Amino acid sequence: MKRVTDMNKILEEIEKIGIVPVVVIDSAEDAVPLAKALCEGGLPAAEITFRTAAAAESIKRIREACPEMIVGAGTVLTCEQADAAIAAGSQFIVSPGLNPAVVKHVLDKGVPMLPGCANPSDIEAALSLGLTEVKFFPAEQIGGLKAIKAMAAPYGAVRFMPTGGLNAANMGAYLADKKIIACGGSFMVAKDVIARHDWDKIKKDTEKAVSLMLGMTFKGLVQSGGRTFTEMQSSNIKRAVYHLERRGVKFDTASAVYLGDDIVSIDAAEAGIRLTAH
Ligand code: 3PG
Repeated sequence: MKRVTDMNKILEEIEKIGIVPVVVIDSAEDAVPLAKALCEGGLPAAEITFRTAAAAESIKRIREACPEMIVGAGTVLTCEQADAAIAAGSQFIVSPGLNPAVVKHVLDKGVPMLPGCANPSDIEAALSLGLTEVKFFPAEQIGGLKAIKAMAAPYGAVRFMPTGGLNAANMGAYLADKKIIACGGSFMVAKDVIARHDWDKIKKDTEKAVSLMLGMTFKGLVQSGGRTFTEMQSSNIKRAVYHLERRGVKFDTASAVYLGDDIVSIDAAEAGIRLTAH
């Protein structure tokens, strides 16, 4: 039971972060400066793909140097790669397709796994392995959000992490949908930018992606309890609270107004901000 809870915690954290940078890294020397640029830009998460020999060592170094980060392994195709990833400290495992042997192996170790699903048969295979969260890959090329919505209809509990062809401009629509846990993408960590060690560009592109994701808009000034609040709106309050708190804004949980399980309004009295749902 503890394992299931731990697994859910990682997925909950990924959901709040919202975007998982998908990294192809050639040299483990680059892992920590890259991870720091992502964290400073606002995304303390990374999927380090096993497309290069530096993956396991990179994961190990990031876990040691950046404890606040959620670090997973991507493109995990075999049980051996899964073992290497987990030994290095991977907190979640991602694969482009669904290999039942690898999924079982990873889940048995108490590590969350998001196997790639591209059609209803894949989803049913995932469900039969006890999974309700999957990767949707390659998202843009196989119909994007429209395909996810159509596919999700018969499988109420299933939620998706789309990757493949996503970028700062098209992520917003995915992230506003409740079926989406988070989006994965390599757009803010392009190989050539890593190769020339342009950590500042990675940080800035990450900041831009976070701002676009939160899509916060100014609604107006509201009076409440004798105070004036600046009302800001966002499509995902939990995510906005997470990211604003990382920037030092303190929200008062007691002020949260719920509609079902969703927060529709919450105040940060000290900062004079009221956050409401779009
Ligand atoms: C993945 O492994 O999930 C994808 O290659 C990421 O896709 P992108 O490079 O198109 O963002």
